[in-house]
Amino acid sequence: MDKAIVVENLSKKYGNFEAVKNISFNIKKGTIFGLLGPNGAGKSTTIKMLTCQSNPSSGTAYVGGFDVLIDSAEIKRRIGVVFESQNLYEELSVYENLNFFAACTALRKKK
Ligand SMILES: Nc1ncnc2c1ncn2[C@@H]1O[C@H](COP(=O)(O)OP(=O)(O)OP(=O)(O)O)[C@@H](O)[C@H]1O
Ligand SMILES: [Mg+2]
Repeated sequence: MDKAIVVENLSKKYGNFEAVKNISFNIKKGTIFGLLGPNGAGKSTTIKMLTCQSNPSSGTAYVGGFDVLIDSAEIKRRIGVVFESQNLYEELSVYENLNFFAACTALRKKK
């Protein structure tokens, strides 16, 4: 499989509002891909679906061959995400922050 990401007819609705409408694209392994668009185009919503933070309303997406709806735990174990804004808890230590977010994303402890 030479595709890192496969997106097919992906849509996301918030109520009746279509934030992402029927998008399809592939990203080849080993490439750097930028998702560009004006404010409100649906970039963050698309990334949220690909990083399994939000379920698509319809369509399918595969990350590393795993389905975002079926294999979200496998995807979360394999990807890294840098968020737009700071998401750390200041009252927790670095270790506690790492532990907390690792637990949220179903990351396994090293054996
Ligand atoms: N949780 C939500 N509930 C309702 N509407 C939402 C929600 N999140 C995003 N939207 C709407 O969906 C559309 C796409 O938003 P999104 O944040 O994906 O755009 P974006 O391309 O990332 O924009 P920006 O360049 O400003 O970051 C916008 O109209 C936004 O207001
Ligand atoms: Mg955004």
